[in-house]
Amino acid sequence: MKRVYLSPPDMSGRELEFVQDAFASNWIAPLGPHVDGFEREMADYVGVRHAAALSSGTAALHLALILSDVSEGDEVLCSSFTFSASANAVVYQRARPVFVDSDAATWNMDPDLLAEELESAAKRGKTPKAVIAVDLYGQCADYGKIETLCDRFGVTLIEDAAEALGATCGTGKAGSFGRMAVLSFNGNKIITTSGGGMLLSGDGKLIEKARFLSTQARDPAPHYQHSTIGYNYRMSNVLAAIGRAQLEVIEERVETRRKIFEKYVKGLGDLPGVSFMPEASYGRSNRWLTCILVDPRAYGATREDIRLALESENIESRPLWKPMHMQPVFAGCRMVGGGISDGIFEKGLCLPSGSSLSAEDVERVIAILRICCKGRRENRSD
Ligand SMILES: Cc1ncc(COP(=O)(O)O)c(C=O)c1O
Repeated sequence: MKRVYLSPPDMSGRELEFVQDAFASNWIAPLGPHVDGFEREMADYVGVRHAAALSSGTAALHLALILSDVSEGDEVLCSSFTFSASANAVVYQRARPVFVDSDAATWNMDPDLLAEELESAAKRGKTPKAVIAVDLYGQCADYGKIETLCDRFGVTLIEDAAEALGATCGTGKAGSFGRMAVLSFNGNKIITTSGGGMLLSGDGKLIEKARFLSTQARDPAPHYQHSTIGYNYRMSNVLAAIGRAQLEVIEERVETRRKIFEKYVKGLGDLPGVSFMPEASYGRSNRWLTCILVDPRAYGATREDIRLALESENIESRPLWKPMHMQPVFAGCRMVGGGISDGIFEKGLCLPSGSSLSAEDVERVIAILRICCKGRRENRSD
């Protein structure tokens, strides 16, 4: 049986055309017109003025912290419930991540906990250098509240929109919040360049500096001269060509992922002990991954039982992100709040959600979850 992946790349069909153009013009690397085009088109789509295409979302996070002057000993408030990239980037700068728990309604950084922490930090006389808020599983954090708080306390806000391209918060698109925002085009994301990322900002000077730092920080001189430490973080013209073809279909991709989510809700919504990641009232999620919570007492099996049952049918699923405050590598870090993301992690599973997933494969997943369910429920039809 062909393997069903969680979120594999989905080509639009135009990628080769763009890549062939890169080859024909011999703009292979490092930069070229597709990089400029991809930056321009992404900035237009997201609704920000400036963007720098980079080698990964992690590189974009690292540069965002450098550009926020984060350095040794500084504190940076981060979402605990996410992938490790944002906290790792803080440590690259020898700064200290302080984790903030999620709110149960959105699974994103809890603005009330953030407010408490910023207030007590201000009283201590040591506000954090930055806040990195993650848009989890394609749902924006509550920027109406988070931006206001960061402005009030004079703290730089960085939006980690790696998973959320195509999502919205109010009238703004994911990638348009904070002083800078980060996107990822890793192979599992809603659009991909195989690997890649982008840093976006309304401040052209920051993006200009990101371009300089990401291309080895060469001073203007005929020889190689450096007065700053640089990085090799730029995206190549070939990968940007792929990205342009992918960006053309972003709205279709969002619609497809949202439809997959709806099919799962229809097929599983009546099972006892199964619930879905809620959608926040303030915006539209891109439903990058369909996430469920499984209450083993009501459902009659654990999320790990489901994962193994799917795996035995060659179907990939994955537990939700293990929160950063539970990770051995961040054991010494401070945590604000607690209990919410831990609970979601214990019960949570990501189901196959790629935009190329066939209707039959969705039905197979649904059928397996129905078989795994040993809980009692009214009107059970199978
Ligand atoms: C929330 C989040 N931030 C950052 C990253 C890192 O992006 P990249 O893999 O492009 O470095 C990822 C995953 O890839 C992510 O899910």
